[in-house]
Amino acid sequence: MSGKNILLGVTGGIAAYKAAQLVRLLVKQGASVKVVMTPTAKQFITPLTLATLSQNPILVDFFNSENGEWNSHVKLGLWADAMIIAPATANTIAKMANGIADNLLTTSYLSARCPVFVAPAMDLDMFAHPATQKNIATLKSVGNIIIDAEDGELASGLSGKGRMAEPETITACVSAYFEQNSQLSGKTIMITAGPTYENIDPVRFIGNYSSGKMGFALAEAAAALGAKVILISGPVKLSSNHPNIKRIDVTSAQQMFEACTANFAQCDAAIMAAAVADYRPATVADQKIKKAENNLTITLEATPDIAKSLGQMKSPKQVLVGFALETENGLQNAEDKLKKKNLDFVVLNNANEAGAGFNCDTNHVTIITSGGEKIEFPTKSKSEVANDIVNQLINCLNK
Ligand code: PMT
Repeated sequence: MSGKNILLGVTGGIAAYKAAQLVRLLVKQGASVKVVMTPTAKQFITPLTLATLSQNPILVDFFNSENGEWNSHVKLGLWADAMIIAPATANTIAKMANGIADNLLTTSYLSARCPVFVAPAMDLDMFAHPATQKNIATLKSVGNIIIDAEDGELASGLSGKGRMAEPETITACVSAYFEQNSQLSGKTIMITAGPTYENIDPVRFIGNYSSGKMGFALAEAAAALGAKVILISGPVKLSSNHPNIKRIDVTSAQQMFEACTANFAQCDAAIMAAAVADYRPATVADQKIKKAENNLTITLEATPDIAKSLGQMKSPKQVLVGFALETENGLQNAEDKLKKKNLDFVVLNNANEAGAGFNCDTNHVTIITSGGEKIEFPTKSKSEVANDIVNQLINCLNK
C-alpha cells in the first residue's frame, strides 16, 4: 500500500462513520488518501473528520466557491492507483451500474482507469432486492471488485446481510490486490505491436493484416502487473490507456528496428508481437508510380530482423520472447525461429486458423521454450492469451 494513491468515495449511508477508520488504516499503511463524498454522505460523517485523518481537503462539489477553481473528476480518476467506494449505497451502486454521472463521486468513478473496489452497505431487503443484485453483478462484470457485504445487526434493528465489510477487511483486500498485481513492478518490458508499412511510392505501401490487438493486450497485461511498458507500435487504430504504458509510434520496419534497439538496453524483457515486413522496396519512388501497359516489377530488399538483432544484443539477465506466425509446419518453423533469434520462448500461432492470428479478438497459441517445453493453450481471448504469455515471462524472469 505504501506510496499508493487511494481515492475513497464515501456515500450517504450509516456505515459512513466507518470511513474514518478506513482512512486511518489506509494512511497508516503508507497510502495517500483523497476523499470524495456525495452530498448526503456529509449528513453521516463530517468532512472535517475525514479531512483531518486523510490530511487532504474533502471533495464534494464540482466547483470550489471559495477560490473559483473546479475539482476535476478526470484528474482525480487519473491520480488514483485504486478507488474504493465504501460505503456504497444501493443508490450509488445503481448509478455506477448505469453510467449516471450526477456528482463528483460518480463522475470520478467513470473517469478512473484504476481498479475500483466497491463495499456495499444497506439494509438487508435493499441488498437482497433483485435490482440491487443485478446492479452489483453489472459492476462485477465490468471488472469492479466487490467487497461483499457481511451478515449481522443492521442500523434498522433488523439482522441479515447488508452490513459494510469492516475497514480492516477492506484494507486487507486492497493491499492483497496490490501485492498480487505487482509481480512485474520495477521491471521494464518492451513490446512491439501491429504491422509495419513499407512505402512503394507516396501513395502505396506493402503492409499486412495485423491489428495490433495481440501486442496491445500484452502491454495492458504487463502494465497491470506493475511493469513499465514501452509499447512500440506500427500503424494501428488502437489506443492504450494505462499510465504505465509509454507508446512509441512507428511506421516502417526500419523505424521499429531503430526504436527497439535504442530502448532494449534499459529493458528486462522484450516481447515481439509485431508483424514486421521481411522485405521492403529497394527504392521508394518520389512520385506516384504511373500505370503502364506492362507489368510492374518492384525489387525488394530484406528489412532488418529486429528480434534477431535483439537476440544478439541480449544480456544473460534479459528475456526475449518472439512470435511465430505460420501457415504450415508450425512447430518446426517456430523452433527454428527460437534458435535463430536466440529467444527464451516463442509463441506459435497459425494465420490460417479461424479465431487465431490476425485481426480477431481470440488467439490459439503454443508456447515453445528454449528448454524444449511445449505448452498448448485452448483458444482464448487475446487478453487471456496475453496473461498466459506474461505468466510464462514472469517464470523466465524469476529463474
Ligand atoms: O495484431 P493482431 O491482429 O492481434 O495479430 C497478432 C499477430 C498475428 C500479429 C501476432 O500474434 C503474431 O504472430 N506476431 C508475429 C507476426 C510475425 O511477423 O511473425 P513471423 O513468424 O514472421 O516473425 C517471427 C518473429 O520475428 C516475430 O516475433 C516478429 O515480430 C519478429 N520479426 C520478424 C521480422 C523482422 N524483420 N523482424 C522481427 O523482429
